[in-house]
Amino acid sequence: MSIDGYLGSASPRRLELSNDADFDRVDAVRATCDAIFVGAETVRLDNPRLLVRSPARREERAARGLAPSPIKVTVTERVELDARADFFATGEAEKLVYCASSGVVHARSRLGPGATVVDAGAPVKMRTISEDLGARGVDRLMVEGGGKVHTQFLTDDLVDELQLVVAPVFVGDSEAPRFVRDGIFPWNPGRRATLADVRQIGDVVLLRYALSSRFQDD
Ligand SMILES: NC(=O)c1ccc[n+]([C@@H]2O[C@H](COP(=O)([O-])OP(=O)(O)OC[C@H]3O[C@@H](n4cnc5c(N)ncnc54)[C@H](OP(=O)(O)O)[C@@H]3O)[C@@H](O)[C@H]2O)c1
Repeated sequence: MSIDGYLGSASPRRLELSNDADFDRVDAVRATCDAIFVGAETVRLDNPRLLVRSPARREERAARGLAPSPIKVTVTERVELDARADFFATGEAEKLVYCASSGVVHARSRLGPGATVVDAGAPVKMRTISEDLGARGVDRLMVEGGGKVHTQFLTDDLVDELQLVVAPVFVGDSEAPRFVRDGIFPWNPGRRATLADVRQIGDVVLLRYALSSRFQDD
């Protein structure tokens, strides 16, 4: 996020906040995960591929009997998703779309065989999704935004570790997406989160917070 807590700009163009070294660090974290989760708005606006980029890391995963990149996961109610988006069109791993019940039939016809559409009920809760992912063998889930999704995972107390990278820029536009939206968070002035690590990576800083007893330092 920016110094003032934004994930990007208010314009539809993607704003790159991190530097190359940190993008490579993110790639390394991705390679350790079973699945990567982003909200549908991030799929629409950023068109991310969500693949492990490093050939060495892809090979290392393959040697462990895993797909080169983790499973991709998103969530939607409105189902305004394009089957040609890079989320769906790239990589060999499964693409899971958790969908509010009302949109399931539409999502299956719109996305076709390139995605597995899961009826996630109504309203869709991140806990329901997490439990379903667990049943599918996903032990380690990386949530990569955006703010609406971050908010739900955090307020539902589902997060073991928060990795917050602060980039040395201001966005200065309240129309832009924030790291989180309004909500009741388990960490507050009366219950402070545990800061587990601070690391400077070039001109950005990584803050790692241990948010549950399942946090594992590395
Ligand atoms: N700096 C970074 O690291 C970073 C990372 C990721 C994203 N971003 C930025 O963040 C922005 C997007 O963030 P955002 O907060 O606007 O959106 P978001 O969290 O990416 O996605 C929100 C969308 O996800 C779906 N969704 C979320 N919760 C749901 C629920 N409980 N039930 C059903 N559907 C649900 C809805 O999709 P439908 O509208 O389809 O129903 C909702 O509109 C973009 O500007 C992107 O560039 C930045």
